[in-house]
Amino acid sequence: MIIFSTVGGTTRKVAKRIAARIGDTVCVDAQTARATPPVSDDRCVVLLCPAYGDEELEDHFESLLLEWNWSALSGNSFAFCEIGIYTGYEDFGHGLARMVRQKLHAHGLRELVPPLSVDAVPISDWAMIDAWADLLVRPSGVIDE
Ligand SMILES: Cc1cc2nc3c(=O)[nH]c(=O)nc-3n(C[C@H](O)[C@H](O)[C@H](O)COP(=O)(O)O)c2cc1C
Repeated sequence: MIIFSTVGGTTRKVAKRIAARIGDTVCVDAQTARATPPVSDDRCVVLLCPAYGDEELEDHFESLLLEWNWSALSGNSFAFCEIGIYTGYEDFGHGLARMVRQKLHAHGLRELVPPLSVDAVPISDWAMIDAWADLLVRPSGVIDE
């Protein structure tokens, strides 16, 4: 299952690309996902969110993160991709991954692959996104927090 949030549509594009690449037929926005309870299965939950400020999740994604019953997915795996304008940032310390990982680890989910930070202006690095998608299918092992 792939869950994304978007305002301008960029993150949807990346989510659809990953969905096509890994053959995941469930690719929904955060509002849609939040309307139904999570269903535990063996598949990884792939999450994508754009940055709207330093450590600011997009609003619908934030609601999903704070309000969904993540504990129902305890033992399942997740992967996180953040989208932003990262030019000029020396590291991703102001990004979104830290809080997402903290929250999901606290609910017992395991991170399947390292988080991906995508610079959205312009998205030219589809090869990097494809490589991350391939890693989702063939992870090298669950990573530590
Ligand atoms: C008001 C606003 C604030 C933003 N703040 C950040 C930010 O703090 N860090 C960052 O990396 N990108 C930031 N961005 C860039 C967005 O994350 C980027 O444009 C992204 O592609 C938006 O994704 P979307 O089209 O899926 O909504 C901001 C964009 C806007 C419009």
